[in-house]
Amino acid sequence: MNILGIESSCDETSVAIISDDVLKTNLVSSQDFHKKFGGVVPELSSRAHLQQIVPLLRLALKESKLELNEIDLISATAGPGLIGAILVGFIFGKGLSYSLKKPFIPVNHIEGHIYSGFLMKEKPEFPFLVLVVSGGHTLLLVVESFSRIKKLGSTIDDAAGEAFDKVAKMLGLGYPGGPKIQEYAEKSNGSKIVFPIAQLKNEFDFSFSGLKTSVLRFIQKEYGESSAIPEKELFDIAEAFQKTAVKSLTRNVERAINKYQLNSISLVGGVAANSFLRDEFTLLGKKYNKKVVIPDLQFCGDNAAMIANRAKNLFDLGETFDLDYEPFPSFFSKYFQ
Ligand SMILES: Nc1ncnc2c1ncn2[C@@H]1O[C@H](COP(=O)(O)OP(=O)(O)OP(=O)(O)O)[C@@H](O)[C@H]1O
Ligand SMILES: [Mg+2]
Repeated sequence: MNILGIESSCDETSVAIISDDVLKTNLVSSQDFHKKFGGVVPELSSRAHLQQIVPLLRLALKESKLELNEIDLISATAGPGLIGAILVGFIFGKGLSYSLKKPFIPVNHIEGHIYSGFLMKEKPEFPFLVLVVSGGHTLLLVVESFSRIKKLGSTIDDAAGEAFDKVAKMLGLGYPGGPKIQEYAEKSNGSKIVFPIAQLKNEFDFSFSGLKTSVLRFIQKEYGESSAIPEKELFDIAEAFQKTAVKSLTRNVERAINKYQLNSISLVGGVAANSFLRDEFTLLGKKYNKKVVIPDLQFCGDNAAMIANRAKNLFDLGETFDLDYEPFPSFFSKYFQ
């Protein structure tokens, strides 16, 4: 069976093809031009998806050595994300489904991230703990099967990726900030700056707004403004922030490992590209003798392979959708308990 996946929920246009459990191609076109605006401009994003989607599909078919009419199942991200951006890939997918007379499966983008570990050779084993850290979400979940996800905690304010992006902006490092913070932190020899970690009522929830404010206060108190910070100090602030943000994530993972019966632990989403977080997460797995599954970098940020991969689960579960199905801009998953 040849499954086509389409992703267009934010600033990556992506097309992937999975044939009989083998990923044939996963093409991602990133909209770098948002950098000069300091964040994603929704209208420009939709327009760029429109320009990219057809050439990407053509290339994906060529790389997979397939004709369009050999596609058996079409899937596209149905939300959450920027509605104008989602609509481009979603309606394109629906149109293909209608003209080719092949089934269409809408996929929840976050479910795509959650199950992205299954794109790896070594797959998660149920029940597994998954930490979802992306630009819009921070979730700690126990995944019991392909249709049962139990939520332990989530962020009560900013998402992890959002915190990385905002702190990078405060430091004048540009957008997207996550990779910049990592780059700067790696140049530090280890800072002595200490930022606090929030203590919350639900031990599995996360909060990053206090940490963000602490960084801002530190900059204001010590330097007045970011342009006055010497480069070496930028490395140290980035390192201290990254260490604290990662600690607040792994602390909850450790608590969950101690409380729940788990066969594996998985780290997913755009922030899962962070090498310090990957290392700390792997160390936790070793400490508690749990199988660790962290997807390759190409499956951490937004990509269509995870959408086609999740569509396969839904197809196997016998889920059917008609072409009247509407996309959803906010978070919704019927598989969440
Ligand atoms: N090396 C890194 N270290 C930390 N953060 C990173 C790194 N690489 C990317 N990120 C962050 O990952 C985020 C993007 O992840 P992703 O593309 O999954 O988010 P999104 O799709 O915008 O949000 P969502 O998946 O919640 O809808 C950005 O906030 C970016 O800064
Ligand atoms: Mg995402």
